Amino acid sequence: MIIHENISLKEHNTFRVNVSARYFAEVSDLYGLKFALEFAKINHQTTLILGGGSNILFTGDFAGLVIQLNLKGISEEILSENEVLVTAKAGENWHAFVQFSLRQNYGGLENLSLIPGNVGTSPMQNIGAYGTEIKDTFVRCLVLNLETLETEEFSHEQCRFGYRDSIFKLAGKGKYVILEVTFKLTRKNHLIKTDYGAIQSELEKLGIGNPTIQDISRAVINIRQSKLPDPKVLGNAGSFFKNPTIPAEQFSEVQERFPEIPNYPGGNLVKVPAGWLIEQCGWKGKQIGNVASHEQQALVIVNKTGNASGKEIFDFSAMIIDSVKDKFGIELEREVNII
Ligand code: FAD
Ligand code: EPU
Repeated sequence: MIIHENISLKEHNTFRVNVSARYFAEVSDLYGLKFALEFAKINHQTTLILGGGSNILFTGDFAGLVIQLNLKGISEEILSENEVLVTAKAGENWHAFVQFSLRQNYGGLENLSLIPGNVGTSPMQNIGAYGTEIKDTFVRCLVLNLETLETEEFSHEQCRFGYRDSIFKLAGKGKYVILEVTFKLTRKNHLIKTDYGAIQSELEKLGIGNPTIQDISRAVINIRQSKLPDPKVLGNAGSFFKNPTIPAEQFSEVQERFPEIPNYPGGNLVKVPAGWLIEQCGWKGKQIGNVASHEQQALVIVNKTGNASGKEIFDFSAMIIDSVKDKFGIELEREVNII
Protein backbone atom coordinates (compact mmCIF):
# COMPACT_ATOMS: atom_id res chain seq x y z
CA MET A 1 0.00 0.00 0.00
CA ILE A 2 1.24 3.48 -0.84
CA ILE A 3 1.03 6.29 1.69
CA HIS A 4 0.91 9.49 -0.35
CA GLU A 5 2.06 12.85 0.97
CA ASN A 6 0.45 16.27 0.56
CA ILE A 7 -2.49 15.12 -1.53
CA SER A 8 -5.30 17.45 -2.61
CA LEU A 9 -8.71 16.39 -1.27
CA LYS A 10 -10.67 18.40 -3.84
CA GLU A 11 -11.83 15.29 -5.70
CA HIS A 12 -12.56 13.51 -2.40
CA ASN A 13 -15.23 15.84 -0.99
CA THR A 14 -18.49 16.76 -2.74
CA PHE A 15 -18.21 20.41 -1.62
CA ARG A 16 -15.10 20.38 -3.83
CA VAL A 17 -13.17 22.36 -1.27
CA ASN A 18 -9.51 22.54 -2.20
CA VAL A 19 -7.67 21.40 0.93
CA SER A 20 -4.87 18.90 1.27
CA ALA A 21 -4.04 15.97 3.50
CA ARG A 22 -0.57 15.57 5.01
CA TYR A 23 -0.85 11.83 4.31
CA PHE A 24 -3.38 9.87 2.25
CA ALA A 25 -3.86 6.12 1.85
CA GLU A 26 -6.43 4.03 0.00
CA VAL A 27 -7.14 0.71 1.69
CA SER A 28 -8.91 -2.24 0.11
CA ASP A 29 -8.89 -4.79 2.94
CA LEU A 30 -8.66 -5.10 6.70
CA TYR A 31 -4.93 -5.82 6.54
CA GLY A 32 -4.34 -2.55 4.65
CA LEU A 33 -6.50 -0.63 7.10
CA LYS A 34 -4.52 -1.95 10.08
CA PHE A 35 -1.26 -1.15 8.29
CA ALA A 36 -2.38 2.44 7.69
CA LEU A 37 -3.49 2.81 11.33
CA GLU A 38 -0.13 1.47 12.49
CA PHE A 39 1.67 3.99 10.26
CA ALA A 40 -0.36 6.80 11.82
CA LYS A 41 0.37 5.56 15.33
CA ILE A 42 4.13 5.27 14.81
CA ASN A 43 4.25 8.72 13.20
CA HIS A 44 1.93 10.33 15.78
CA GLN A 45 -0.63 11.29 13.13
CA THR A 46 -4.35 11.71 13.68
CA THR A 47 -6.52 9.74 11.25
CA LEU A 48 -9.69 10.43 9.33
CA ILE A 49 -11.77 7.71 7.68
CA LEU A 50 -13.23 8.85 4.39
CA GLY A 51 -16.03 7.31 2.34
CA GLY A 52 -17.52 9.25 -0.57
CA GLY A 53 -16.86 12.63 1.07
CA SER A 54 -20.50 13.65 0.66
CA ASN A 55 -21.26 14.62 4.24
CA ILE A 56 -18.08 16.35 5.25
CA LEU A 57 -16.78 19.92 5.29
CA PHE A 58 -13.03 20.47 5.53
CA THR A 59 -12.41 23.89 7.08
CA GLY A 60 -8.67 23.64 6.48
CA ASP A 61 -5.88 21.27 5.45
CA PHE A 62 -5.92 17.93 7.29
CA ALA A 63 -2.67 17.57 9.23
CA GLY A 64 -2.82 13.78 9.60
CA LEU A 65 -3.56 10.62 7.62
CA VAL A 66 -6.76 10.38 5.57
CA ILE A 67 -7.75 6.76 5.03
CA GLN A 68 -10.00 6.21 2.03
CA LEU A 69 -11.98 3.02 2.67
CA ASN A 70 -12.20 1.02 -0.52
CA LEU A 71 -13.35 -2.37 0.78
CA LYS A 72 -15.51 -3.99 -1.91
CA GLY A 73 -17.84 -6.95 -2.17
CA ILE A 74 -21.49 -7.95 -1.80
CA SER A 75 -22.73 -11.32 -0.51
CA GLU A 76 -26.16 -12.82 0.01
CA GLU A 77 -27.77 -15.37 2.28
CA ILE A 78 -31.28 -16.52 1.41
CA LEU A 79 -33.31 -16.75 4.63
CA SER A 80 -36.63 -17.93 3.27
CA GLU A 81 -38.90 -17.65 0.28
CA ASN A 82 -39.62 -14.10 1.41
CA GLU A 83 -36.39 -12.73 2.83
CA VAL A 84 -32.69 -12.42 2.11
CA LEU A 85 -29.73 -11.04 4.04
CA VAL A 86 -27.44 -8.91 1.89
CA THR A 87 -24.04 -7.80 3.17
CA ALA A 88 -22.01 -5.07 1.49
CA LYS A 89 -18.48 -3.96 2.32
CA ALA A 90 -17.94 -0.38 3.41
CA GLY A 91 -16.42 0.91 0.17
CA GLU A 92 -19.36 -0.08 -2.04
CA ASN A 93 -21.10 2.98 -3.48
CA TRP A 94 -24.52 3.34 -1.85
CA HIS A 95 -26.57 3.97 -4.98
CA ALA A 96 -24.82 1.17 -6.91
CA PHE A 97 -25.71 -1.12 -4.00
CA VAL A 98 -29.37 -0.03 -4.14
CA GLN A 99 -29.38 -0.69 -7.90
CA PHE A 100 -27.82 -4.11 -7.33
CA SER A 101 -30.62 -4.98 -4.89
CA LEU A 102 -33.26 -3.80 -7.38
CA ARG A 103 -31.75 -5.93 -10.16
CA GLN A 104 -32.16 -8.95 -7.89
CA ASN A 105 -35.71 -7.72 -7.17
CA TYR A 106 -34.90 -7.33 -3.46
CA GLY A 107 -37.09 -4.76 -1.75
CA GLY A 108 -36.47 -2.31 1.09
CA LEU A 109 -33.88 0.16 -0.19
CA GLU A 110 -35.70 1.66 -3.20
CA ASN A 111 -36.78 4.86 -1.40
CA LEU A 112 -33.10 5.49 -0.61
CA SER A 113 -32.07 5.61 -4.28
CA LEU A 114 -29.48 8.15 -5.40
CA ILE A 115 -28.18 9.11 -1.95
CA PRO A 116 -24.46 9.80 -2.47
CA GLY A 117 -21.72 8.17 -0.40
CA ASN A 118 -20.75 4.66 0.59
CA VAL A 119 -22.45 1.73 2.29
CA GLY A 120 -20.00 1.88 5.22
CA THR A 121 -21.13 5.40 6.09
CA SER A 122 -24.85 4.67 5.88
CA PRO A 123 -25.26 3.71 9.57
CA MET A 124 -23.37 6.81 10.78
CA GLN A 125 -26.38 9.09 10.44
CA ASN A 126 -28.95 6.40 9.65
CA ILE A 127 -29.39 7.82 6.15
CA GLY A 128 -32.95 8.50 5.22
CA ALA A 129 -35.19 9.84 2.49
CA TYR A 130 -38.76 9.66 1.22
CA GLY A 131 -40.26 7.90 4.23
CA THR A 132 -37.48 5.32 4.76
CA GLU A 133 -34.32 5.13 6.87
CA ILE A 134 -31.69 2.40 6.85
CA LYS A 135 -32.81 1.39 10.33
CA ASP A 136 -35.89 -0.14 8.61
CA THR A 137 -33.78 -2.86 6.93
CA PHE A 138 -30.51 -2.79 8.90
CA VAL A 139 -29.60 -6.02 10.71
CA ARG A 140 -25.98 -5.63 11.88
CA CYS A 141 -22.63 -4.13 11.00
CA LEU A 142 -19.08 -5.31 11.42
CA VAL A 143 -16.68 -2.71 12.80
CA LEU A 144 -13.02 -2.39 13.70
CA ASN A 145 -12.53 -1.16 17.25
CA LEU A 146 -9.78 1.45 16.96
CA GLU A 147 -8.60 0.90 20.53
CA THR A 148 -8.29 -2.90 20.51
CA LEU A 149 -7.88 -3.34 16.73
CA GLU A 150 -10.32 -6.27 17.03
CA THR A 151 -13.44 -6.61 14.92
CA GLU A 152 -16.84 -6.45 16.64
CA GLU A 153 -20.43 -6.78 15.57
CA PHE A 154 -23.04 -4.12 16.32
CA SER A 155 -26.68 -5.21 16.40
CA HIS A 156 -29.57 -2.95 15.41
CA GLU A 157 -30.21 -2.15 19.06
CA GLN A 158 -26.56 -1.35 19.80
CA CYS A 159 -26.51 1.17 16.94
CA ARG A 160 -29.10 3.35 18.74
CA PHE A 161 -30.48 4.76 15.52
CA GLY A 162 -32.38 8.04 15.60
CA TYR A 163 -33.20 10.75 13.07
CA ARG A 164 -29.84 11.37 11.33
CA ASP A 165 -28.15 9.79 14.34
CA SER A 166 -26.52 6.64 15.71
CA ILE A 167 -24.04 5.47 18.34
CA PHE A 168 -21.29 6.24 15.78
CA LYS A 169 -22.04 9.97 16.07
CA LEU A 170 -22.57 9.82 19.85
CA ALA A 171 -20.62 7.77 22.43
CA GLY A 172 -18.90 5.75 19.68
CA LYS A 173 -17.71 8.82 17.73
CA GLY A 174 -14.20 8.27 16.34
CA LYS A 175 -13.92 4.86 18.03
CA TYR A 176 -14.91 2.49 15.24
CA VAL A 177 -14.47 1.96 11.53
CA ILE A 178 -17.52 0.39 9.93
CA LEU A 179 -16.30 -2.44 7.67
CA GLU A 180 -19.50 -3.95 6.33
CA VAL A 181 -23.25 -3.66 6.76
CA THR A 182 -25.96 -6.34 6.56
CA PHE A 183 -29.55 -5.61 5.52
CA LYS A 184 -32.63 -7.81 5.53
CA LEU A 185 -34.51 -7.33 2.26
CA THR A 186 -37.69 -8.81 0.86
CA ARG A 187 -37.72 -11.27 -2.04
CA LYS A 188 -41.46 -10.94 -2.63
CA ASN A 189 -44.54 -9.24 -1.16
CA HIS A 190 -42.53 -6.02 -1.08
CA LEU A 191 -43.75 -3.19 1.12
CA ILE A 192 -44.36 -0.35 -1.32
CA LYS A 193 -43.96 3.02 0.41
CA THR A 194 -45.64 5.86 -1.40
CA ASP A 195 -46.81 7.78 1.68
CA TYR A 196 -44.28 10.56 1.10
CA GLY A 197 -46.48 12.92 -0.96
CA ALA A 198 -44.06 13.70 -3.75
CA ILE A 199 -43.70 10.00 -4.66
CA GLN A 200 -47.41 9.62 -5.29
CA SER A 201 -47.57 12.65 -7.54
CA GLU A 202 -44.42 11.61 -9.43
CA LEU A 203 -45.91 8.14 -10.06
CA GLU A 204 -49.07 9.79 -11.38
CA LYS A 205 -46.94 11.93 -13.67
CA LEU A 206 -45.27 8.74 -14.93
CA GLY A 207 -48.69 7.13 -15.42
CA ILE A 208 -47.95 4.29 -12.97
CA GLY A 209 -50.90 3.01 -10.93
CA ASN A 210 -49.54 -0.15 -9.37
CA PRO A 211 -45.86 0.56 -8.70
CA THR A 212 -43.07 -1.99 -8.38
CA ILE A 213 -39.98 -1.33 -6.22
CA GLN A 214 -38.17 -0.39 -9.45
CA ASP A 215 -40.88 2.21 -10.20
CA ILE A 216 -40.49 3.69 -6.72
CA SER A 217 -36.76 3.98 -7.29
CA ARG A 218 -37.33 5.74 -10.60
CA ALA A 219 -39.80 8.17 -9.02
CA VAL A 220 -37.39 8.95 -6.17
CA ILE A 221 -34.54 9.51 -8.64
CA ASN A 222 -36.70 11.91 -10.69
CA ILE A 223 -37.73 13.91 -7.61
CA ARG A 224 -34.19 14.12 -6.30
CA GLN A 225 -32.78 15.19 -9.66
CA SER A 226 -35.34 17.99 -9.90
CA LYS A 227 -34.58 19.40 -6.45
CA LEU A 228 -31.05 18.63 -5.34
CA PRO A 229 -27.94 19.96 -7.05
CA ASP A 230 -25.63 17.36 -8.59
CA PRO A 231 -22.33 17.68 -6.67
CA LYS A 232 -20.44 17.06 -9.93
CA VAL A 233 -21.90 20.31 -11.24
CA LEU A 234 -22.34 22.36 -8.05
CA GLY A 235 -20.39 21.45 -4.91
CA ASN A 236 -22.63 20.63 -1.93
CA ALA A 237 -23.20 18.06 0.81
CA GLY A 238 -26.99 17.71 0.68
CA SER A 239 -28.94 19.15 3.62
CA PHE A 240 -26.48 21.21 5.61
CA PHE A 241 -28.66 21.21 8.75
CA LYS A 242 -31.01 18.71 10.38
CA ASN A 243 -34.69 19.51 10.53
CA PRO A 244 -35.13 20.77 14.11
CA THR A 245 -37.41 18.94 16.51
CA ILE A 246 -38.80 21.25 19.18
CA PRO A 247 -41.07 20.80 22.21
CA ALA A 248 -44.80 21.19 21.41
CA GLU A 249 -45.04 24.16 23.77
CA GLN A 250 -42.27 26.04 22.00
CA PHE A 251 -43.85 25.16 18.66
CA SER A 252 -47.20 26.68 19.73
CA GLU A 253 -45.48 29.97 20.53
CA VAL A 254 -43.76 30.04 17.14
CA GLN A 255 -46.99 29.04 15.37
CA GLU A 256 -48.84 31.92 16.99
CA ARG A 257 -46.42 34.33 15.36
CA PHE A 258 -46.12 32.35 12.07
CA PRO A 259 -49.43 30.48 11.54
CA GLU A 260 -48.34 29.13 8.13
CA ILE A 261 -45.30 27.22 9.51
CA PRO A 262 -45.21 23.63 8.12
CA ASN A 263 -44.92 21.02 10.85
CA TYR A 264 -44.80 17.28 11.52
CA PRO A 265 -45.99 16.52 15.07
CA GLY A 266 -44.80 13.38 16.87
CA GLY A 267 -45.79 13.00 20.52
CA ASN A 268 -44.56 15.93 22.59
CA LEU A 269 -42.19 17.04 19.88
CA VAL A 270 -42.79 18.80 16.60
CA LYS A 271 -40.44 18.63 13.61
CA VAL A 272 -40.25 21.74 11.47
CA PRO A 273 -38.52 21.94 8.07
CA ALA A 274 -35.24 23.81 8.32
CA GLY A 275 -35.54 24.70 4.62
CA TRP A 276 -38.69 26.69 5.36
CA LEU A 277 -37.13 28.51 8.35
CA ILE A 278 -34.07 29.41 6.26
CA GLU A 279 -36.18 30.59 3.31
CA GLN A 280 -38.29 32.78 5.62
CA CYS A 281 -35.11 34.48 6.78
CA GLY A 282 -34.42 35.49 3.17
CA TRP A 283 -31.53 33.11 2.50
CA LYS A 284 -32.92 31.05 -0.37
CA GLY A 285 -30.75 31.67 -3.45
CA LYS A 286 -28.71 34.29 -1.58
CA GLN A 287 -24.98 34.41 -2.36
CA ILE A 288 -22.17 35.84 -0.26
CA GLY A 289 -18.74 35.63 -1.88
CA ASN A 290 -18.33 32.11 -3.27
CA VAL A 291 -21.10 30.50 -1.21
CA ALA A 292 -24.88 30.41 -1.63
CA SER A 293 -28.04 28.80 -0.38
CA HIS A 294 -29.44 26.70 -3.26
CA GLU A 295 -32.16 28.33 -5.35
CA GLN A 296 -34.44 25.24 -5.29
CA GLN A 297 -33.69 24.07 -1.74
CA ALA A 298 -32.67 26.58 0.93
CA LEU A 299 -31.37 23.78 3.19
CA VAL A 300 -28.58 22.98 0.75
CA ILE A 301 -25.50 25.22 0.88
CA VAL A 302 -23.55 25.26 -2.37
CA ASN A 303 -20.01 26.12 -3.46
CA LYS A 304 -21.46 28.52 -6.00
CA THR A 305 -18.30 29.57 -7.82
CA GLY A 306 -16.34 26.38 -7.23
CA ASN A 307 -13.73 28.41 -5.37
CA ALA A 308 -15.24 28.48 -1.88
CA SER A 309 -13.03 27.61 1.07
CA GLY A 310 -14.34 25.40 3.84
CA LYS A 311 -14.07 28.35 6.22
CA GLU A 312 -16.29 30.50 3.97
CA ILE A 313 -18.92 27.73 3.85
CA PHE A 314 -18.74 27.29 7.61
CA ASP A 315 -19.10 31.05 8.22
CA PHE A 316 -22.07 31.16 5.84
CA SER A 317 -23.73 28.36 7.82
CA ALA A 318 -23.07 30.26 11.07
CA MET A 319 -24.87 33.34 9.66
CA ILE A 320 -27.88 31.16 8.78
CA ILE A 321 -27.93 29.69 12.30
CA ASP A 322 -27.86 33.20 13.81
CA SER A 323 -30.66 34.58 11.68
CA VAL A 324 -32.96 31.56 12.24
CA LYS A 325 -32.30 31.85 15.97
CA ASP A 326 -33.09 35.60 15.91
CA LYS A 327 -36.34 35.26 13.96
CA PHE A 328 -37.77 32.01 15.33
CA GLY A 329 -35.81 31.29 18.53
CA ILE A 330 -34.92 27.87 17.03
CA GLU A 331 -31.33 26.60 17.04
CA LEU A 332 -30.34 24.77 13.86
CA GLU A 333 -27.91 21.87 14.19
CA ARG A 334 -25.45 21.05 11.39
CA GLU A 335 -25.89 17.65 9.74
CA VAL A 336 -22.62 17.85 7.83
CA ASN A 337 -19.49 16.64 9.67
CA ILE A 338 -17.15 19.58 10.22
CA ILE A 339 -13.43 18.77 10.12
P1 FAD B 1 -18.19 10.82 4.17
O1 FAD B 1 -18.56 12.24 3.85
O2 FAD B 1 -17.00 10.25 3.50
O3 FAD B 1 -18.03 10.68 5.75
C1 FAD B 1 -18.98 11.22 6.64
C2 FAD B 1 -18.49 10.98 8.09
O4 FAD B 1 -18.46 9.60 8.39
C3 FAD B 1 -17.06 11.48 8.32
O5 FAD B 1 -17.01 11.99 9.63
C4 FAD B 1 -16.21 10.22 8.18
O6 FAD B 1 -15.02 10.30 8.94
C5 FAD B 1 -17.14 9.15 8.72
N1 FAD B 1 -17.00 7.84 8.07
C6 FAD B 1 -17.09 7.59 6.73
N2 FAD B 1 -17.02 6.26 6.51
C7 FAD B 1 -16.86 5.66 7.71
C8 FAD B 1 -16.74 4.30 8.13
N3 FAD B 1 -16.77 3.30 7.26
N4 FAD B 1 -16.57 4.04 9.46
C9 FAD B 1 -16.56 5.05 10.34
N5 FAD B 1 -16.68 6.36 10.01
C10 FAD B 1 -16.84 6.66 8.71
N6 FAD B 1 -28.10 11.92 3.49
C11 FAD B 1 -29.28 11.38 3.86
O7 FAD B 1 -29.38 10.78 4.94
N7 FAD B 1 -30.38 11.46 3.07
C12 FAD B 1 -30.37 12.10 1.88
O8 FAD B 1 -31.38 12.16 1.20
C13 FAD B 1 -29.14 12.68 1.45
N8 FAD B 1 -29.07 13.34 0.27
C14 FAD B 1 -27.89 13.89 -0.13
C15 FAD B 1 -27.84 14.55 -1.37
C16 FAD B 1 -26.66 15.11 -1.83
C17 FAD B 1 -26.63 15.82 -3.16
C18 FAD B 1 -25.48 15.00 -1.04
C19 FAD B 1 -24.19 15.56 -1.54
C20 FAD B 1 -25.52 14.37 0.20
C21 FAD B 1 -26.72 13.81 0.67
N9 FAD B 1 -26.82 13.15 1.91
C22 FAD B 1 -28.00 12.57 2.30
C23 FAD B 1 -25.65 13.10 2.81
C24 FAD B 1 -24.70 11.92 2.49
O9 FAD B 1 -24.95 11.39 1.24
C25 FAD B 1 -24.80 10.79 3.52
O10 FAD B 1 -24.57 11.28 4.80
C26 FAD B 1 -23.82 9.66 3.23
O11 FAD B 1 -24.09 8.56 4.05
C27 FAD B 1 -22.36 10.09 3.42
O12 FAD B 1 -21.54 9.05 2.97
P2 FAD B 1 -20.02 9.27 2.57
O13 FAD B 1 -19.44 7.91 2.33
O14 FAD B 1 -19.90 10.23 1.47
O15 FAD B 1 -19.46 9.90 3.92
N1 EPU C 1 -39.05 24.00 2.33
C1 EPU C 1 -39.18 25.34 2.07
N2 EPU C 1 -38.20 25.97 1.37
C2 EPU C 1 -37.12 25.32 0.90
C3 EPU C 1 -36.97 23.95 1.17
C4 EPU C 1 -37.94 23.30 1.89
O1 EPU C 1 -40.15 25.97 2.47
O2 EPU C 1 -36.26 25.98 0.27
C5 EPU C 1 -40.09 23.30 3.11
C6 EPU C 1 -41.31 22.91 2.33
O3 EPU C 1 -42.42 23.13 3.17
C7 EPU C 1 -41.18 21.42 2.14
C8 EPU C 1 -40.43 21.02 3.40
O4 EPU C 1 -39.57 22.13 3.67
O5 EPU C 1 -42.40 20.80 2.05
C9 EPU C 1 -39.59 19.76 3.27
O6 EPU C 1 -38.70 19.90 2.17
P1 EPU C 1 -38.14 18.62 1.38
O7 EPU C 1 -39.25 17.69 1.07
O8 EPU C 1 -37.28 19.11 0.28
O9 EPU C 1 -37.29 17.87 2.46
P2 EPU C 1 -36.25 18.38 3.55
O10 EPU C 1 -36.89 18.25 4.88
O11 EPU C 1 -35.70 19.71 3.18
C10 EPU C 1 -35.30 16.01 4.02
C11 EPU C 1 -33.94 15.44 4.24
C12 EPU C 1 -33.29 15.10 2.92
C13 EPU C 1 -34.15 14.08 2.18
C14 EPU C 1 -35.55 14.69 1.96
C15 EPU C 1 -36.50 13.69 1.35
C16 EPU C 1 -33.11 16.32 6.33
C17 EPU C 1 -32.17 17.26 7.00
N3 EPU C 1 -33.12 16.37 5.00
O12 EPU C 1 -35.12 17.27 3.37
O13 EPU C 1 -32.02 14.52 3.18
O14 EPU C 1 -33.60 13.73 0.95
O15 EPU C 1 -36.09 15.11 3.23
O16 EPU C 1 -36.84 12.72 2.29
O17 EPU C 1 -33.78 15.55 7.01
C18 EPU C 1 -29.73 15.05 3.54
O18 EPU C 1 -29.87 14.59 4.68
O19 EPU C 1 -28.63 15.48 3.11
C19 EPU C 1 -30.89 15.12 2.66
C20 EPU C 1 -30.84 15.66 1.43
